[in-house]
Amino acid sequence: MFPVAGLGTRSLPATKTIPKEMLCVVDKPVIQYAVEEAKAAGIEEFVFVTSRGKSALEDHFDRQFELEESLRARGKDDALAAVRGAELPPGRYGFVRQAEPLGLGHAVWCAQAMIGDEPFAVLLPDEVFRGPVSVLKQMVDVYDRLGGNVLAVREVEPALTARYGILAVGGDDGRVAEVTGLVEKPKPKDAPSNLSIVGRYILQPEVFDHLGRHETGAGGEIQLTDAMARLIGGQPFHGTRFEGDRFDCGDKAEFVAANVAFALDRADLADGVRASVSAILGHRD
Ligand code: G1P
Repeated sequence: MFPVAGLGTRSLPATKTIPKEMLCVVDKPVIQYAVEEAKAAGIEEFVFVTSRGKSALEDHFDRQFELEESLRARGKDDALAAVRGAELPPGRYGFVRQAEPLGLGHAVWCAQAMIGDEPFAVLLPDEVFRGPVSVLKQMVDVYDRLGGNVLAVREVEPALTARYGILAVGGDDGRVAEVTGLVEKPKPKDAPSNLSIVGRYILQPEVFDHLGRHETGAGGEIQLTDAMARLIGGQPFHGTRFEGDRFDCGDKAEFVAANVAFALDRADLADGVRASVSAILGHRD
């Protein structure tokens, strides 16, 4: 499931009329990176928790017959393949509204009826990952071995713990850590570690029992972290460090960096972008 109901205030004015998930990194909206990451992990059904003003997102994953016909007629095969590549399988995806911005935990809870009684993944699309293996696939590999709940985590500067969900850990082999506690946005002095949750989760459906109580936590919001914390002890719960780069595309500097990094990965763009960036840096020096 993809929580896409947020207002995108960090990216204004770009997001005044465009959903933040439709901002492009090179030539694909950020939401498409998350969907492709999920597909690469074997996910076959997709739920988006949306809000008012997000219809561009729904259209993006739908078919666009007129556009396809016109590209076909003009022999623009690459563009046609790119358009078709963004589609989701018919009958395997859906949208549910979060009517009020009550927090990430509430957004996830809104998808309960569509997800049903089975394990599921949550992907926060602001976070775009770059690397040879889909981050969610790396998590699925851990899940296949250990079951239960799996979070993608990374170390952050100790001074920055108040921006993230933070783990308390037991056994830790340097890659996978047993989660013994979770705290949402603790001040550095209260943080049990500096291992932070990035926006990828594999969760058991029992988390809905706790989300359904609608208890508020940090920032007065219904927090996914608080509901997850209640699962610890009753089910396996692990955090896994991941291989790859992470870009928080809600942050303007990281969004620009993501564009440069993904462009440099593209055979058709790398030389031109490298030359332009070098020239800009040269003028600055
Ligand atoms: C959310 C989660 C937090 C997590 C973060 C990752 O916070 O609540 O636990 O560490 O995403 O980006 P938000 O960024 O929505 O405030």
